[in-house]
Amino acid sequence: MPGDTALLAAAHQSLKGTVGSFVFQDRTYVAKRLTGRSPGRLREAWQSLLLGIAARYLAGVPLRPAALPPGRDYERRRLQFLLAAGQPVPPVLAWDAELMVLVHAGQDGFKVMRRLPRAERTRLLLRLAAELGDFHAAGHWHGGAQIKNVLIHEDRTCRIDFEEAALERLPLPLAQAYDLILFLNIIPLAGPLDEAESRELLPKLLQAYFAHQPDRAVRQCLERILPWARRLRRLARPFRRLSRKSIRRAEILIDCLEHCLGPRPDA
Ligand SMILES: Nc1ncnc2c1ncn2[C@@H]1O[C@H](COP(=O)(O)OP(=O)(O)O)[C@@H](O)[C@H]1O
Ligand SMILES: [Mg+2]
Repeated sequence: MPGDTALLAAAHQSLKGTVGSFVFQDRTYVAKRLTGRSPGRLREAWQSLLLGIAARYLAGVPLRPAALPPGRDYERRRLQFLLAAGQPVPPVLAWDAELMVLVHAGQDGFKVMRRLPRAERTRLLLRLAAELGDFHAAGHWHGGAQIKNVLIHEDRTCRIDFEEAALERLPLPLAQAYDLILFLNIIPLAGPLDEAESRELLPKLLQAYFAHQPDRAVRQCLERILPWARRLRRLARPFRRLSRKSIRRAEILIDCLEHCLGPRPDA
């Protein structure tokens, strides 16, 4: 069994749900249950069909072979792969077939961001956008790049939550465009951000990202996603009042992408 047996036993004893922190010999760790699954044949066929269409249509290329096969311990293997590649993810200290034990790597970036005054909040978000660009420029993708999956400890950040095995086969620029959308989509109207601040901030975040990830292919995927996003915006407009924030949030993001990526075809 890899890792410290006593540490694993303490993790088993403390873990109630899927993830939680625990103290062992005066240090704090995180235990996470390994819940990855290999899809059944039928599900895999569906996934391949849908992802294949998205890949062809939005990235102009077919699916690629998965670098890491799916399975219960997919996230553990992914973290170890990224750590070996020098990326900022928490080291896996011990694991067995049920769970893994991680270094406690900081606080949820979303909670940290919400508490900061505007100038510091902007600085932090610009830094996170640039770091996502660096991560992508190094040839990686996250799959869950929302800021709640970036942990912050002092001036260091760490990425967590790498469960999306199904996206392994997406062309890299499309997986990265998906990360960028997830990262940006949660920011408008989040916590203390009002609409004016959100509209001012998003273009700066895109700029910071592209300054660190200059690959045209990600931008091209976003350009191909944009007409679909416009349709969605039009369809969702009548339901705006019914939704608390999600439709307004998506509208701000789509407006910003439109502004940053180029004019409307009918403008
Ligand atoms: N290594 C870690 N250090 C500190 N907190 C962590 C760590 N891993 C997870 N957490 C905390 O647990 C939460 C859920 O973990 P995550 O891996 O994102 O699982 P989920 O799939 O449930 O979102 C995170 O938002 C974070 O607050
Ligand atoms: Mg998470």
